[in-house]
Amino acid sequence: MTQDELKALVARAALQHVVPGAWVGVGTGSTVNHFIDALAGMKAQIAGAVSSSVASTQRLRAHGILVREAHEVESLPVYIDGADEIDGQGCMIKGGGAALTREKIVADLAARFVCIVDASKRVEVLGRFPLPVEVIDLAVPQLQRRFAALGGRALLRAGVLTDNGHPILDVHGLQITDPLAMETEVNQWPGVVTVGLFARHRASLCLLGTAQGVQTVAY
Ligand code: A5P
Repeated sequence: MTQDELKALVARAALQHVVPGAWVGVGTGSTVNHFIDALAGMKAQIAGAVSSSVASTQRLRAHGILVREAHEVESLPVYIDGADEIDGQGCMIKGGGAALTREKIVADLAARFVCIVDASKRVEVLGRFPLPVEVIDLAVPQLQRRFAALGGRALLRAGVLTDNGHPILDVHGLQITDPLAMETEVNQWPGVVTVGLFARHRASLCLLGTAQGVQTVAY
């Protein structure tokens, strides 16, 4: 199976975790695009979706799925999203698609985070994928120095602003052995909007797409 077929496989498997009659939190990215397409088949059974990006909102609406923004709901039973990397504890790197801040906001509303990834995203130690960090532009040089002190090279993502109008730093060369500690530390730095480490909001469940089928891992 191709990587895209594995993404479609886990996206369809995620439908089992959508709670009938409720709003479902929806992430962003190519795996979630498959999920949104699959969700269209059961749109009559859900209240609608809470979206994490302009791109996902457009795709959901194109399918006729009712969309709400994060500030319009108090809680969600489940949030379904992809990841750039996931480790053995369900901690993730996210933000390859620049939607990390809204993704974390919607994930924070949800009782459960169901992560849908193909097997290439499963790693022992986070950090091979450059860590995305949404930042305030004035702080960029100081944040680059702070990451350099941790052994990382923080490069401005060229030509990209998030849905919130901020730039992204992609931090290369980190070995993130303690994701919770690093998330906590980076969150304290002035000028950081959101770090793309999801350790506080780690996955509750991962649906991993492998050549043998969907592997379900609970944390
Ligand atoms: C979007 O900002 C990201 O957090 C995505 O969830 C992540 O990049 C996974 O994307 P794909 O499903 O396209 O691999």
